[in-house]
Amino acid sequence: MNYRHHFHAGNFADVMKHALLVRLMRAMQKKEKGLLYLDTHAGRGRYDLAAGATGDSLARAPEWPGGIGRLVAPAAPPEAVAEYLALVRDFDHRAGGAGDRLRFYPGSPWLAAMGARPQDRLALCERQPAECAALREEFQFTPRTSVQEMDGYVALRAMLPPPERRALVLIDPPFEAQNEFAQVATALGEGLRRFPGGVFAGWYPLTERAHVDEFFAAVLALRPPPTLVLELTVAGEMVPMKMKGCGLIVLNPPWRFEREAERVLAFLAEALAQAPGGDGNVRWLVPE
Ligand SMILES: C[S@@+](CC[C@H](N)C(=O)[O-])C[C@H]1O[C@@H](n2cnc3c(N)ncnc32)[C@H](O)[C@@H]1O
Repeated sequence: MNYRHHFHAGNFADVMKHALLVRLMRAMQKKEKGLLYLDTHAGRGRYDLAAGATGDSLARAPEWPGGIGRLVAPAAPPEAVAEYLALVRDFDHRAGGAGDRLRFYPGSPWLAAMGARPQDRLALCERQPAECAALREEFQFTPRTSVQEMDGYVALRAMLPPPERRALVLIDPPFEAQNEFAQVATALGEGLRRFPGGVFAGWYPLTERAHVDEFFAAVLALRPPPTLVLELTVAGEMVPMKMKGCGLIVLNPPWRFEREAERVLAFLAEALAQAPGGDGNVRWLVPE
């Protein structure tokens, strides 16, 4: 496996996942009690967008101009994504970006950390040694945050249930392995068994609908709690793009999170469209 998130950082899929993650965390923070944020596939935490165009050996077109690159300009972004964009700008500034154009982009660990309250705790897992070393360096001085070089699926079993009795678990694998959808479904099952009240968010690519339908069938077989499906497509069915969209499945979503998600996705569908026919979609896989 040689997946490096660097090449994809800030693309439309990252924007969708991260904008929703920020809202999800805020929705959970309406309750005072602290929570565990568990990132099973954390990545390196910080991405230099200037490196996004350089592959292992070949130059490649950077993906962020079609994602975060489209959103940094508006002076008054809609409320649904305003905090996410403010965190991105703040991160870039703190990381040493020049300010006029975005240079550094935060991964999910930093977006969660910047939104965390003193009573929240972060557990960040990354299996790839070099990525994990970078992540560890990023968070060496951040209180209540642990970085583990380990398989995130194993971590999910080891870290649940949390002493806080509240958790937001982000499962964001690279989908390089053939059986990644099946692994996510298994992980959701194990997570629910250990901690039925946890909020579980799993990201997935929309490359082949059949894979997604099979994944949903596997999730339904778990007899899950209320489950939301949030999807964004940036082009219509007929457009020849490998990944036309992506989704986030959310088990046990916070109250009325579907309304928040609708606003986020409606804005992103318009802002990130690459060809006609794209859409933002929110539906219950298992209703409340
Ligand atoms: C899509 S990236 C994560 C991006 C990150 N969540 C973010 O939003 O910024 C997936 C990451 O998972 C790592 N990875 C792959 N398999 C893993 C596993 N079984 N356990 C933990 N990390 C894994 C990869 O090295 C990669 O850094």
